[in-house]
Amino acid sequence: MSAVLRADGLSKRFGGLKAVDNVSLTLDEGRILGLIGPNGAGKSTCFSMLAGSTSPTAGRVFLGDREITGLPAFRAARGGVVRTHQIVRPFANLTIFENAVVAAVQCSGLDHAGARALARETLEFAGLAARRNEYPAGLTLAGRKRLEMARALACAPKVLLLDEVIAGVNPAEAQEMVTLILRIRDERKVSIIMTEHVMAAVMRLCERVVVLDAGKLIAAGEPKEIVQNPEVIAAYLGKKHA
Ligand SMILES: Nc1ncnc2c1ncn2[C@@H]1O[C@H](COP(=O)(O)OP(=O)(O)OP(=O)(O)O)[C@@H](O)[C@H]1O
Ligand SMILES: [Mg+2]
Repeated sequence: MSAVLRADGLSKRFGGLKAVDNVSLTLDEGRILGLIGPNGAGKSTCFSMLAGSTSPTAGRVFLGDREITGLPAFRAARGGVVRTHQIVRPFANLTIFENAVVAAVQCSGLDHAGARALARETLEFAGLAARRNEYPAGLTLAGRKRLEMARALACAPKVLLLDEVIAGVNPAEAQEMVTLILRIRDERKVSIIMTEHVMAAVMRLCERVVVLDAGKLIAAGEPKEIVQNPEVIAAYLGKKHA
């Protein structure tokens, strides 16, 4: 099995805070890797460094054999690494279709006609085709998360980083989101890292899970082992209660 994305010793400091502290991880091709941990553990900051929206203080990122450390986000995206944002931020004054077109133009490398075709096809894939001429404000939270995923897919990624696309949606929508994530892996051949607080979804989707706590990697393994790991339980419940 070959590594499609690899982080070696990634660290990020914000002033005196070590938000991410010497984290290494590997995503194998065709897999879904879970990146979990309590609030403030450093998951989103890791994604920012992997996708080029933040430069690491230390450490390196490789896409296949190619080093992409510190590349700006649009270049990382053209290389094939694209993230979604925990707080979704579509362009409010553009339609759902136009939002997807902008993403495709910026990072797919296609010409305008190609980008429009990719955007149309991506919205179809994400179940948003019927609403393509509406504005994002009319979507539910689950709909806005779907749009965020469609915009990321319109970049034609090899690696997709999904930042909490399930948390906060209702159980039926969560089930649909699980199905969509599996289709992204299987039909689009995209390898995925996902952060998620909904453990049932992590258990269903991820072959491997990496756990962060206060910036440090504290455990890695199969989900069913991870949920029984005393250090992981302590990190989630607080040391006092464990
Ligand atoms: N731009 C920033 N400037 C200063 N501190 C930051 C910045 N971004 C994140 N942090 C801090 O870094 C730490 C890690 O934050 P991060 O958002 O990566 O955690 P997380 O694991 O994604 O948490 P959550 O589960 O709540 O989304 C937190 O203490 C956060 O307050
Ligand atoms: Mg986060």
